[in-house]
Amino acid sequence: MSTVENFKTQITEGYTCKGESIVLGGAMLDGEALDLHVTIPLKTLNRHGLIAGATGTGKTKTIQVLSEQLSQKGIPVLMMDIKGDFSGVAKAGEEKPFITERHTKINIPFSPKAFSVELLSLSEQDGVRLRATVSEFGPVLFSRILDLNDTQSGVISVIFKYCDDKKMPLLDLKDIKKVMNYITEEGKDEISEEYGKISTSTTGTILRKIIELEQQGATTFFGEKSFEIDDLMRIDENGQGYINIVRLTDIQDKPKLFSTFMLNLLAEIYQQMPEKGDVDQPELVIFIDEAHLIFNEASKTLLDQIETIIKLIRSKGVGVYFITQNPMDIPKGVLAQLGLKIQHALRAFTANDRQAINQTSDNYPTSEFYKTEELLTSLGIGEALVTALNEKGIPTPLAATMMRAPESRMDILTEDEIATINTKSKLVAKYAEELDRESAYEMLTKKIEAISEEISEKEEERRESKEPGMGEVVGKSVLKVVTSASFIRGAFSVLMKVLKR
Ligand SMILES: Nc1ncnc2c1ncn2[C@@H]1O[C@H](COP(=O)(O)OP(=O)(O)OP(=O)(O)O)[C@@H](O)[C@H]1O
Ligand SMILES: [Mg+2]
Repeated sequence: MSTVENFKTQITEGYTCKGESIVLGGAMLDGEALDLHVTIPLKTLNRHGLIAGATGTGKTKTIQVLSEQLSQKGIPVLMMDIKGDFSGVAKAGEEKPFITERHTKINIPFSPKAFSVELLSLSEQDGVRLRATVSEFGPVLFSRILDLNDTQSGVISVIFKYCDDKKMPLLDLKDIKKVMNYITEEGKDEISEEYGKISTSTTGTILRKIIELEQQGATTFFGEKSFEIDDLMRIDENGQGYINIVRLTDIQDKPKLFSTFMLNLLAEIYQQMPEKGDVDQPELVIFIDEAHLIFNEASKTLLDQIETIIKLIRSKGVGVYFITQNPMDIPKGVLAQLGLKIQHALRAFTANDRQAINQTSDNYPTSEFYKTEELLTSLGIGEALVTALNEKGIPTPLAATMMRAPESRMDILTEDEIATINTKSKLVAKYAEELDRESAYEMLTKKIEAISEEISEKEEERRESKEPGMGEVVGKSVLKVVTSASFIRGAFSVLMKVLKR
């Protein structure tokens, strides 16, 4: 058998699916596209994936192609759009000569299509407002967003535990600031008795960092109404999955905010979705662009958590796809779990680049048809090395693939088009409302007020009976609440504030 015949046989056998599948493009040999479709079974799309490649090689268009194909199979998509170049999926594309040429080569018909899109935002930008509560974030992620060291993170854990024990919800940053103040002043002894001593310099640092976070615009993000995961799973009236785009352009320079949000969302999805086991097709597929931001400077604890979530979320029918320039940005423990790999061209400028190319090629199945390392630097734009999992879960043979073109617009939406989507959106209205129900802030304010009132009453009694020694009386009244000297100092500061009014 000739090499070409042999190649055709292997690709056809490797990429034939019995069940539902999506077509990515056509397999290539010696730089030529053959009429051989690279087909991926829906069944293994919850086994996660990687889309990598140098800048401008076609990663975003590949995600657009994947999203379109998934949506048409009734699978909703969540896209973390950091560069803001994904919104065009809401409008039909145009058939241009270079697209016709590409699609003729791979023998896939091209028909321009628009998709149902929701635009979501973490900030003031128009769209569906994504909010989360501090409690939902949990101590590990909240510490990460503040960039805390181990000692400081320990204090955050105590605060979460304390609020949990006292049934005080931590909704927004106002709540956690109030608790921080409380535990260094009025509640100092209550905390140290039950949870151990907390240094005021540590709480001071944490408070400063919370204020910095507020200045970065996080106040709009923390609070209620918090986003309901079910709203990501919508199917439109034509039975196509919604493509949910989180527009992150305005927090590009705040990678901690974005990455922590992303991890929180994954954790929420994991917690809330029912166990599915083996699925015929995923319930939701998530694309994370600039994925290196999630792993940068992540602590060991956090990396372990990410690895675990990625491992477990599969059985909830959720596929997570990381997009990054250099595949080495993804930690080994995560990389090992990825079923679909789409590697666009890499550039070999520096020694580091060459090392990345070597390592990347080692991560792909060997092929008698390709010199992987050479191919990695010679792939054209919109071409990629693909390996997936077949229906039995076995890696497919390596296929250099000419990707199909997106059927939706390969450019962004205009401001008017964005406004029209948001006006029509049911979710925008649903999440526009800002709630502020009773939480730690209000509860602690009441508690402190109650203490102050008691002190003032005693003060009043003393004046009436002309009893001497204010300090003594204050001491006694407070002793009823908590028998401790430093608590009185706290109460004093409250008293001073009351008296100044
Ligand atoms: N599948 C494709 N079909 C047709 N054209 C494509 C395809 N993929 C990429 N292109 C062309 O290449 C350009 C760059 O692609 P894309 O924006 O996807 O690159 P990228 O890898 O995401 O770059 P960056 O790292 O800068 O985000 C596109 O604007 C388009 O013209
Ligand atoms: Mg891109």
